[in-house]
Amino acid sequence: MDRIACGRGGIVLTMTARSRFHNPVDVHFGAGALARLPELVGNRRAVLVTMPEARALGMTGQIEALLGQRLAGVVDQVSPNPDVRELAPMYGDFWRRYGQCEVIVALGGGSALDTAKLLMVAGADDRFAALVDALDAGVTFRPARAKRLITVPTTAGTGSEVTPWATLWDRHVKRKKYSLHLPETWPEAAIVDPRLTRSLPRAVTLQSGLDALSHALEAIWNINANPISDTFAVSAARDMMRVLPQLMTSLDDEALRSQAALAALQAGMAFSNTKTALAHSISYDMTIRHGLPHGIACSFTLPAVMRLAIGRQAERDAVLARVFDGDIASAPDMLTAFLNGLGVATEFSAYGVTESESSAMIAAALDGPRGRNFIGAVA
Ligand SMILES: [Fe+2]
Repeated sequence: MDRIACGRGGIVLTMTARSRFHNPVDVHFGAGALARLPELVGNRRAVLVTMPEARALGMTGQIEALLGQRLAGVVDQVSPNPDVRELAPMYGDFWRRYGQCEVIVALGGGSALDTAKLLMVAGADDRFAALVDALDAGVTFRPARAKRLITVPTTAGTGSEVTPWATLWDRHVKRKKYSLHLPETWPEAAIVDPRLTRSLPRAVTLQSGLDALSHALEAIWNINANPISDTFAVSAARDMMRVLPQLMTSLDDEALRSQAALAALQAGMAFSNTKTALAHSISYDMTIRHGLPHGIACSFTLPAVMRLAIGRQAERDAVLARVFDGDIASAPDMLTAFLNGLGVATEFSAYGVTESESSAMIAAALDGPRGRNFIGAVA
């Protein structure tokens, strides 16, 4: 545990235990980094997993040109927020057709990257039900076969390119959300090329940027935080709060796109070790019940969650203060003004949620796996 003391010299951070940070992803960042893909695939056979619009945006063609004969096929039927019902037939077909491919190249936003992580592990047969049953029972899925993963994000926000987690939804039968995370689902490499985010429309740019901000702040008010994750989280939160308003009025600005991509990557690095916390825990209900896009669902509660976080642990307050120029008292209001300035309402009522429903949602979220990472959930 790290401790702080306030004396005449100000706040002193004392390391009283070792901190560990682990992330095995080989990260390639920068404009034009996509050109590294052939080198990273090497002599292996690859399959591209992406969203349908990647073809029209010229991205699928770019990957085909870069990989040539090494690209065995393209799976481009990824839909937003992968769902059990849609993924089951895709999964069986994927393993029948591409069982011999060693590598998946996942190109897209969080949904494409999550879909690739769900496709990359298989049991003894090709049934998706075996994976879903394990997730539903809360037991560890033991893959008999696994592919390697190279992630190529086309949004600046998900962080999924440097984490082993994939979100799977069951909207139709159980109305719940599962999280897959296995040693096998860590990406082998991530190519973060900001040029791939240039065509993102305003709404998706905003949602993904706010998702990254949420990852950064959630990594701070987190029981798993340490000085190493804090370094990534503070930098990511500060940069994203500076860059995002500018980017909203200059979507074609390559320098701003690059700064947003780097902030999102840093946020991903932070929460790759801490996981998310209460704002994300609340978001799942807002997405599944109210259809709110993830980036809005996980960010509109950030000021309220911050109010719950402040005062819990002086050490966490000190880290949050680094994001807000030392002014922790005004930080929740600053965050509210930031979100409102981007057109994001910060009250549940703005999303059609009554006070009693929001109270029940927060109580349930505090008790969820991500909610229990929140420092305010600790008795
Ligand atoms: Fe998120």
